[in-house]
Amino acid sequence: MLVAGIRRIGGDVEMIDVPEPRPLAEDEVLMQVRAAGVANWDEIVRTGGWDVGSRPPMALGVEAAGVVAAVGNAVTDFAPGDEVMTHPLPLRDQGTWAPTLIAPAALLAPKPAGVSWEVAAVFPVPALTAEQVLDEALEVKTGDRLLVNGAGGITGGLLVSLGSLRGAEVFATAGPHRHEAVGALGACHVIDYHDDDWPEQILAITRGSGVSAAVNAAPGGAKDAIRAVTDGGRLATITSDPPAEERGIMVSSVYVRPDGGQLRNLTQLLAVGQLKVSVGMTYGLLDAADALAKAVRGRAGGAVALTL
Ligand SMILES: NC(=O)c1ccc[n+]([C@@H]2O[C@H](COP(=O)([O-])OP(=O)(O)OC[C@H]3O[C@@H](n4cnc5c(N)ncnc54)[C@H](OP(=O)(O)O)[C@@H]3O)[C@@H](O)[C@H]2O)c1
Repeated sequence: MLVAGIRRIGGDVEMIDVPEPRPLAEDEVLMQVRAAGVANWDEIVRTGGWDVGSRPPMALGVEAAGVVAAVGNAVTDFAPGDEVMTHPLPLRDQGTWAPTLIAPAALLAPKPAGVSWEVAAVFPVPALTAEQVLDEALEVKTGDRLLVNGAGGITGGLLVSLGSLRGAEVFATAGPHRHEAVGALGACHVIDYHDDDWPEQILAITRGSGVSAAVNAAPGGAKDAIRAVTDGGRLATITSDPPAEERGIMVSSVYVRPDGGQLRNLTQLLAVGQLKVSVGMTYGLLDAADALAKAVRGRAGGAVALTL
């Protein structure tokens, strides 16, 4: 089977011939991949910073959407022909940049009928991350003032939508070209992060008290975000840059965790349009190296997907 991946940690992305899928364990499904997500976290896998459970030579890719082709003996929730999506870590065999994927059935969610393969493929990692930040790290509730720093991105946008659905008053930072879109996702206040004093602008809007909870989704941005947090508040960062705790603020670093139950709940919100992601560029499997380079340069305009 020809996949897009690496022969060694740090190697270039290229087409690699790997063995055909092995027989399924009883809890597994074989998926015919129709689209796979590409993002800068795949660069972290390529360069050895994220152990996804497989060793090179291997296909890269940690999220996908596709059609169930076969199921293991103990799988009752899914059947051949079902359309599904997944963040299937730790990988049981190859990554998702491949024609077929072996994944545990417990980590699948049904793909909503009206959602494209590409949108379904780029949704699992950012959506699970946003859910886990808001529910587990920050425990955001109605009445919270929530800051999302980096709301112009895919994960940032989902954080705004989910925060707003939980009844928080959302403060967001984004570039000027994203202000309208971020406002439409549910942010009450959108501030340009190019202004160095943006945290002070939030303090001014809140009459000096700041936000009760903040999530940083901009690399290196957590040290700025904490300036807008009230004494005793909560800050989570998803870009591995937790600042030292200060003023009784609880600081945490969040890394996405696969969770089939959460993904099934989130896809229901995607199905009814309460959550949205846009795909900016699609590539064929043969052009996976270009797709990754595009994702690393910045995904402005939408997420990057491989179409198979
Ligand atoms: N820890 C985890 O498990 C986890 C999970 C998901 C994502 N992440 C990480 O979180 C980050 C964001 O992910 P994403 O999916 O939202 O990325 P993305 O779709 O590539 O978006 C990046 C956005 O960041 C914004 N940005 C750039 N510099 C900024 C700054 N100085 N201040 C505020 N915003 C800035 C830009 O917004 P404008 O368009 O408005 O300029 C850009 O659209 C990435 O580094 C990603 O690797 C980590």
